Amino acid sequence: MKTQVAIIGAGPAGLLLGQLLHHHGIDAVIIEQRSPDYVLSRIRAGVLEQGTVEILEGLGVADRLHAEGLVHDGVELSCEGERLRINFRELIGKTVTVYGQTEVTRDLMEARASKGLTTIYEAESVELHDVHGDSPFVRYTKNGQAHKVSCSIIAGCDGYHGVSRKSVLPSAITTYERVYDFGWLGVLADVPPCAEELIYANSERGFALCSMRSLTRSRYYVQVPVAERVEDWSDDRFWEELRRRVGEDVASRITTGPSLEKSVAPLRSFVAEPMRFGKLFLAGDAAHIVPPTGAKGLNLAVSDVYYLTQTLSEYFRSPSESVLDSYSVRALKRVWKAERFSWWMTSQLHHFPGSDAFSRRMQRSELEYLFRSENAQKVLAENYVGLPL
Ligand code: APR
Ligand code: PHB
Repeated sequence: MKTQVAIIGAGPAGLLLGQLLHHHGIDAVIIEQRSPDYVLSRIRAGVLEQGTVEILEGLGVADRLHAEGLVHDGVELSCEGERLRINFRELIGKTVTVYGQTEVTRDLMEARASKGLTTIYEAESVELHDVHGDSPFVRYTKNGQAHKVSCSIIAGCDGYHGVSRKSVLPSAITTYERVYDFGWLGVLADVPPCAEELIYANSERGFALCSMRSLTRSRYYVQVPVAERVEDWSDDRFWEELRRRVGEDVASRITTGPSLEKSVAPLRSFVAEPMRFGKLFLAGDAAHIVPPTGAKGLNLAVSDVYYLTQTLSEYFRSPSESVLDSYSVRALKRVWKAERFSWWMTSQLHHFPGSDAFSRRMQRSELEYLFRSENAQKVLAENYVGLPL
């Protein structure tokens, strides 16, 4: 098989890249190791920046997003009973849309299939070859048959555990990482949300987040030690702990119910530099990870593939090395700003086991300043809704 771009991974980054490249008349094949159902079964975050919504609108894949997504003008912060609403629309003139990543992935899958574009699911033993040469190609097996995809460009959209970044010579890549010694225990339940907007709560007992997927389905998280076992958390224990962290008023409005999904996710900040290696380009979680506190993971994958599409569109019109180099420089500028914001939100809202008294006072001082300074609130709003592309 031959194509212009071989995309590894059919998560949000790979599927959106495929759609954007098609929109620019560039042929691409997606090679995914899992089945479509498995990809859709993964429960992920659900806050879309305005820029992400606009890119999906431009591709004509935002109909369901507009029909089912919830436009939010702000979020609420809660700290030991004190509450603050950050009004995005008033401070920045922008909004965010709550719409599950699973739904974005489903919409992109359906759009790709409707255009008859090629996606190879359940591909095994995916290998990248001749990445630094002029004829890169991808090998994979399926149903015991060996296959080869010849291409001009390989896009590594295969996530943090994918093969693409691991195909790069260690001497050619620099990584930056912060592993947090706590995780998020998340629960999905078919109960109405406790508030109209998201609530991020910092309490002595640890962080909690009240989110949602629709007006009838809620998503809640509590901070737990990183080694916490989900088996040790009954639904009742979760609801009780959540209520203890969000203050009496919010707690009184939480509707409990059986968990549809319950899992513990570790928190990590991670960046691999550069994001280009010969004809291999990394995008999304393959290149960077953010703690979910700033709701940046999906939106960063979107901005990566938006920039990569512009780079490849120019390259296929007029091939040049300098054009290819521009992607990594441009994408990393936005990646690092999102990493900073996600690290800052995580640092301000979580209880850090073993932190000294000075660090705890710095955290409290930062929150006290935020709660009383409209300028500080504007900075948070500008980053949360998404910096300009
Ligand atoms: N070969 C083919 N496909 C692979 C391989 C491989 N060796 N390894 C991983 N994949 C696939 C995974 O099965 C997954 O479907 O690549 C896809 C990567 O998707 P994501 O991990 O969702 O990463 P990305 O598309 O960059 O989206 C980032 O997803 O995980 C969330 O929080 C993250 O919101 C962020 C978003
Ligand atoms: C979610 O709804 O899953 C969610 C929302 C906001 C975040 C993280 C997760 O910052």
